[in-house]
Amino acid sequence: MTPHIPKTVRKSPYLPFGDHKNAPFYGMDILSVRQFKRDDLEYIFGVAHEMAGMVRRVGTFDLLKGKILANLFYEPSTRTSASFTSAMERLGGSVIPINEVRYSSVSKGESLPDTVRTLEAYADVIVLRHPEVGSAALAAKYASKPIINAGDGVGEHPTQALLDLFTITEEMNRVDGLTITMVGDLKYGRTVHSLARLLTLFNVRLNYVSPDILPMPEDVLAEVQASGTPQASYSTLEEVLPESDVIYVTRVQKERFADEAEYEKVRSSYVISPETLKIAKEDMIVMHPLPRVGEISMDLDTDPRAAYFRQVEYGLYVRMALLAMVLGKA
Ligand code: NCD
Repeated sequence: MTPHIPKTVRKSPYLPFGDHKNAPFYGMDILSVRQFKRDDLEYIFGVAHEMAGMVRRVGTFDLLKGKILANLFYEPSTRTSASFTSAMERLGGSVIPINEVRYSSVSKGESLPDTVRTLEAYADVIVLRHPEVGSAALAAKYASKPIINAGDGVGEHPTQALLDLFTITEEMNRVDGLTITMVGDLKYGRTVHSLARLLTLFNVRLNYVSPDILPMPEDVLAEVQASGTPQASYSTLEEVLPESDVIYVTRVQKERFADEAEYEKVRSSYVISPETLKIAKEDMIVMHPLPRVGEISMDLDTDPRAAYFRQVEYGLYVRMALLAMVLGKA
């Protein structure tokens, strides 16, 4: 659907009762970070702040009481699925979890359009993770209820990018003027594809540090270039670490490699330890979408610059905000 315009052709004759149909994002899909402008981000982060305050004060409240989320995951997930579940339940709603599609009708060969058209009869919003690029857009084409892309293969992971950006704003108090260095598997890591695109809305400098065979894809580089955002690629972190305000570390995405021997060659290319950070700024932060599998040593966890577990918590508030918004309650 066209961003910012609620779905007009609703296949269900029953419009949800009592929703604020003029609320921003009401009924919208969240498919790509390309659909957001800076004003949208300010709005989302404002709502996320309110969610954080409410969680601190009361824990759980009834903003989405009676609403149902279908969590449809065709790929493994811990944080994304659990955080959407937690977000929905903290808002008083409930969740249909479909994490093991091998136990569902998908394993009988059911198509994605059929699965989502079925689930939307039961649920008010569908969160989808799927191995194919474009799968969320395909689902959105068939569904009349909002689809939230929780990762479409090596494509995008827009809600992760939103929570990453929220983390940067909360931790650094600004985004403009920062130098952000993305490290690791930039080819297959969908989180960095979305984050780099989202950061083009700000005045930042982007550095990419990756093994030769795992560079940032050409289409992302071209979009960043077209936005006028300065960007440069490096093979060692040491070259750019002293100037970096944020380093965003990623896991080498083993599941995307056709040849395991190739994975073995690059899996330990970068390991961030307290020793590594000796040349980094005092007030920089280290982020990671998690799971980590050795790219950041556990010794770093007690360093105040290690922001990755705080990032997990920011993610809860951003996902609460997104659910409330697409369901017309924020
Ligand atoms: C990421 C993903 O699934 O793309 N995880 C997440 O959602 N936090 C990153 C990864 O799997 O490496």
